[in-house]
Amino acid sequence: MSRNDPDIQRAATAIRKSNFTTAYTGAGISVESGIPSFRGEGGLWTKYDPKLLDIDHFLLEPLRSWKTIKEIFYDHFGKARPNRAHFILAEMEKKGILGRTITQNIDNLHQEAGSTHVFDFHGNSRRLVCLSCGAIFPVGEVNLDVLPPTCRLCGGLLKPDYVFFGESIPHIALSAAYEAASISDVFLVIGTTGEVMPANQFPFLAKENGVTIIEINPVESHYTPAITDIFLKGKATEMMENLAEALFAPALENNQDGVNQDLEIHGE
Ligand code: APR
Repeated sequence: MSRNDPDIQRAATAIRKSNFTTAYTGAGISVESGIPSFRGEGGLWTKYDPKLLDIDHFLLEPLRSWKTIKEIFYDHFGKARPNRAHFILAEMEKKGILGRTITQNIDNLHQEAGSTHVFDFHGNSRRLVCLSCGAIFPVGEVNLDVLPPTCRLCGGLLKPDYVFFGESIPHIALSAAYEAASISDVFLVIGTTGEVMPANQFPFLAKENGVTIIEINPVESHYTPAITDIFLKGKATEMMENLAEALFAPALENNQDGVNQDLEIHGE
């Protein structure tokens, strides 16, 4: 698929005409940063028991939980960097053609790519929270060689500040998602199966409000046959690069030296 592909052009036109576009992302956008998705081939839940992220299990077995949590989310994925899909979304936000990003991911890669209007629907692994006094610490300020980590203020148990199964969704992110489903003209749904409640309901809610659903995924998701208007079948980086070229190509065609002055996409 290239920038001239009819679906890419349709998607670019819809975004250009949109007064408010929301990016709605899942684990798939971070796969090319080296963070495996949860489901599907090689997914985390094929290697680890989802009970690992169950709040009751964490409270009963904090040391056991923390050992696996550290291995997965800090030792392996803590070094992941944003990929071109993250950077292009940040560029679109800077250019005023992306209103906000609602992400199910806890990897902080949207923020590291420069996006500022980001709502972490499942929280963020870069912060730890004390379950006794509520203090929040950047994970870089906590020694994870001593597990389970405890609060330096009150000695309470520290937990990654992301949503475990059985916990409620951060209310700011929840209201931002409801608002996005009512004010957006376009939802750009990237890399999500649409399997997990309540995160999975927002593209459906948006569709009921007449929002155009553009979806990027190498395979069909629950959304594709049900609500997707434009399905860009492929990996997030490839589809986002095509979309970015289609969105910014007029600027390229207009400047003589062909230097892409408009779209500085970082990353290798
Ligand atoms: N580019 C785009 N999409 C991709 C890519 C890629 N390179 N690789 C895989 N995908 C797609 C898969 O096809 C799948 O549809 O990303 C999706 C990943 O699905 P899940 O692993 O279920 O991730 P997600 O939908 O974000 O899960 C939601 O479940 O376990 C909880 O809290 C966890 O936030 C997570 C939630």
